[in-house]
Amino acid sequence: MDRIVVRGNGPLNGKISISGAKNACLTLMPATLLSEEPLTLTNAPRLSDIRTMTTLLRSLGAEVQTMQDGKVIAMSSHQADNHVADYDIVRKMRASNLVLGPLLARHGHAVVSLPGGCAIGARPMDIHISALEAMGAEIELKDGYLHAKTSGGLKGADITLRFASVGATENTVMAATLAKGTTVLRNAAREPEIVDLVECLRKMGAEIEGEGTDTITIQGVDRLHGATHPVVADRIETGTYMLAPAIAGGEVELIGGRIDLLGAFCEKLDACGIDVTETPTGLIVRRRNGRVNAVNVVTEIFPGFPTDLQAQMMAVMCTAEGVSVLEERIFENRFMHAPELIRMGAHIDVHGGTATVTGVDKLKGAQVMATDLRASVSLILAALGAEGETVVNRVYHLDRGYERVEDKLSAVGAHIERVSEDE
Ligand code: EPU
Repeated sequence: MDRIVVRGNGPLNGKISISGAKNACLTLMPATLLSEEPLTLTNAPRLSDIRTMTTLLRSLGAEVQTMQDGKVIAMSSHQADNHVADYDIVRKMRASNLVLGPLLARHGHAVVSLPGGCAIGARPMDIHISALEAMGAEIELKDGYLHAKTSGGLKGADITLRFASVGATENTVMAATLAKGTTVLRNAAREPEIVDLVECLRKMGAEIEGEGTDTITIQGVDRLHGATHPVVADRIETGTYMLAPAIAGGEVELIGGRIDLLGAFCEKLDACGIDVTETPTGLIVRRRNGRVNAVNVVTEIFPGFPTDLQAQMMAVMCTAEGVSVLEERIFENRFMHAPELIRMGAHIDVHGGTATVTGVDKLKGAQVMATDLRASVSLILAALGAEGETVVNRVYHLDRGYERVEDKLSAVGAHIERVSEDE
């Protein structure tokens, strides 16, 4: 298994290009199952999670071709006649559950493995299930698989989600595009990835209104056609690299980064003493003074502070001036980075869903590892400002969601390299 070695070496300067959003691409890809005509995605990120979704779609009978070194994904589901999403693929990646809505809409039945819990929380699927049941699906759990079927197809319904789940919103919107009649989805998630999905579905002929608000209305149509769609910029990758100069100093331009996708995150950066300026091609980020100020953070649904940037923000707070309190409200177990940051000399107390961080002058390099994607990248950020060498183990988590992290950070002057196990 590869490791990443980082030697903290002062300010970072230069440009980083932002890739297409992993979490948008992972919901756009299953949309191919809704049409017999080709769906082509451009600006796709080159990540192992995208390869897992490719494997899953192929197992369902879809044709998936990657071009331009993986940046273009051309899909066609005209022969996609398998409706069983197998445990061996689904267990690798929870986003596999996003084939449930499209399969049900396309075939009237679907068998999708329950993904099981993961490192950051139990992550059940009850909200997805109740929304699809409200549209007339009958769903039962047998042998670890959700068996879903409809008699006479899905029907539009007035649905209120008990929580604004991103995945449940995506599954329901996709299913509703081919349902009979109108679906009104209330307390829907508003994340930019959902707006991107709806824009693509609309190009495919879907009739949808209200994306980006908490009420989405979908008028079912008989069929969807082909389309070509660019994947929206990755707001979490953007936010992650915005924090690199916050920790190490310097000035970094994020090409393709968009402030409008980052909601409350940019307000927190301002309060910490980090300047963000929009440019014609992206954003420039720099620290206003020396050390940043401690700020309190509560993770919330969009446009609140994203849970997917909480670990990275904690890394910044480790060397901030003062005490900060970070509250994680989306997932029940998303502080695995804290014990690793403590190994680097951070002062962090975790009680339930709250972490209190007392800033220290400097962290020190150490051997660390993490059990999820965002936790892993938070250790790399911490290492950029630490004294000495940090070795981040279990890099496969990073490869799920950050395209060529070592190349992007090297380009702005970081001392970072990937070491293969056999070296
Ligand atoms: N939840 C339920 N029941 C459900 C669905 C969700 O209780 O049926 C709970 C979850 O257990 C969790 C909360 O609701 O505590 C939020 O889950 P949500 O469904 O909104 O998240 P998701 O769709 O599973 C996506 C992203 C996550 C991101 C969350 C929150 C993808 C592929 N994943 O997950 O991304 O953290 O939304 O914004 O879009 C990551 O990229 O590192 C990542 C974990």
